[in-house]
Amino acid sequence: MPTLESKLAQLLAALGISSADQVNSLFAELRAQFDAQAAHATDEVSFKTFRDTWLARKSGILTLVTDNWLKPASPDLKRVVGVALNELRAHVDSQITARLAAVEAGTTAAEVTKNRVDISLPGVIRPVGTHHLIRQVMQQIEDIFFSIGFSVAEGPEIETPYYNFEALNIPEHHPVRDDMDTFYLDLPKGAPGQLLLRTHTSPVQIHTMEKRQPPVRVIAPGKVYRRDNPDATHSFMFHQIEGLAVDTDITFCDFTGTIDYFVKQFFGEHVKTRFRPSYFPFTEPSVEFDASCVFCGGNGTAKDGRTCGKCKGSGWIELFGAGMVDPAVYGFVNYDPKKVSGFAFGIGIDRLAMLKYGIDDIQVFFQNDVRFLKQFP
Ligand code: FA5
Repeated sequence: MPTLESKLAQLLAALGISSADQVNSLFAELRAQFDAQAAHATDEVSFKTFRDTWLARKSGILTLVTDNWLKPASPDLKRVVGVALNELRAHVDSQITARLAAVEAGTTAAEVTKNRVDISLPGVIRPVGTHHLIRQVMQQIEDIFFSIGFSVAEGPEIETPYYNFEALNIPEHHPVRDDMDTFYLDLPKGAPGQLLLRTHTSPVQIHTMEKRQPPVRVIAPGKVYRRDNPDATHSFMFHQIEGLAVDTDITFCDFTGTIDYFVKQFFGEHVKTRFRPSYFPFTEPSVEFDASCVFCGGNGTAKDGRTCGKCKGSGWIELFGAGMVDPAVYGFVNYDPKKVSGFAFGIGIDRLAMLKYGIDDIQVFFQNDVRFLKQFP
C-alpha cells in the first residue's frame, strides 16, 4: 500500500485514479492526515514545522497537490480536483490560523505561569541599615548644642600648616607639633606649599572667624588624623567636634556653664564636671574637662567592691580640652582682642562614645563587624 507521501509524488493517472469518488476519497485521506498533524502542533517549534510541511512554497503538500495532481489532471477530473483542492486549502488556512492563535496563547499562558508571583511564599528580608554609633553620637552632641543656639560650620580635612598650626598660635618648631604629628601629602615638585591631613578640628575656628564677624557660635564636627599608634584609646583617624563662641562679653562663667550643660545633657543630670589647668597654645587659660566617672558613679569603687578600672579609682574621667580663646589667635583673623572674648573646646567623639556606651576598645568602631554595629540600632 503506497504511503500518502509517495502518492503526492505521483500523478493521479499513475495512482489509477480516474473518477470523482476516487479523487474525493484521496482528498479525504489527505485532510485526515492534516487534522492528525495539527493536533500535535502544540508549541512554537512543532507549529512551524507543521505549517511549512503544508504551506511551504516549493515543497509544501499543497504545492505538490497543485503541481502533481491538479495541473496534470485529465480534463474530466481537473474541475473535481480543483474544487477538492480549494476546499482543502480553505480548511488548511483556517486551521493553521486557529492553531497559531492557540500556540501563541499557550506560550503566553506558560510564561504567565512561569513568572507568576507566589504570594504565599515567605517574603525576602532586606536588612535595614542604621547610622554608625559614631554618627549617632555626633548627632546627639549636635542636637544639644543646637538647643543653645550653636550652628554647624565645616572645614577641609586637607589643610595647610598655616590653618592647622600657625594661625592657632603654634609656630614652626613649637613642641606641641610633636603631639600632633600627622600625615603630609606627597605633592609634586614645585607645589606652592605643604598640605597635611588636619590633626584637629581647631582650624575650622580660623576659617569661621575669617568669614564671619562676632557674634560667632559654631560647632564643627569631622574627621581628624594623627600618626598615633593604634591601641584601645588611639586611632590614626578619629572624630572631633570643635566648639567656638566669640562675642563682646563672653566670660569664663559662660564657658563652664555651657560645658556643664552639655555634659549633663549628654550623660545625665547626675554627672558632675570639673576642670583642671591645661595647656593649648590657642587658648588662655586652657583647661581639661573631667566628668565624674559614669561607671562607678564617681566614688572610685566598682560594683564588685574593687577599684573602678575605668577611672582607676579617681572618680573622674578626662573628657576633652578647652579654654578661653587666646587673644593672639584674634590677631590672625583681624578680630580686635580688646573688644571680643570667647571660648573654644575640642571633644573627641570616639572617646565620648566609648564612655557613654561602655566600649573598651576604640578599634571596634572601624572594624565594621556587623555583630558590634547591630548593638546600636
Ligand atoms: C585638641 O585636639 C585640641 N584641638 C582641643 C581643643 C580645642 C583645645 C579647642 C582647646 C580649644 P587634644 O589633642 O587633647 O586636643 O585632642 C582632643 C581629644 O581628641 C582628646 O581629648 C581625645 O578625646 C581625642 N583624641 C586625641 N587623640 C586621639 C586618638 N589618637 N584617637 C582617638 N581620640 C583621640
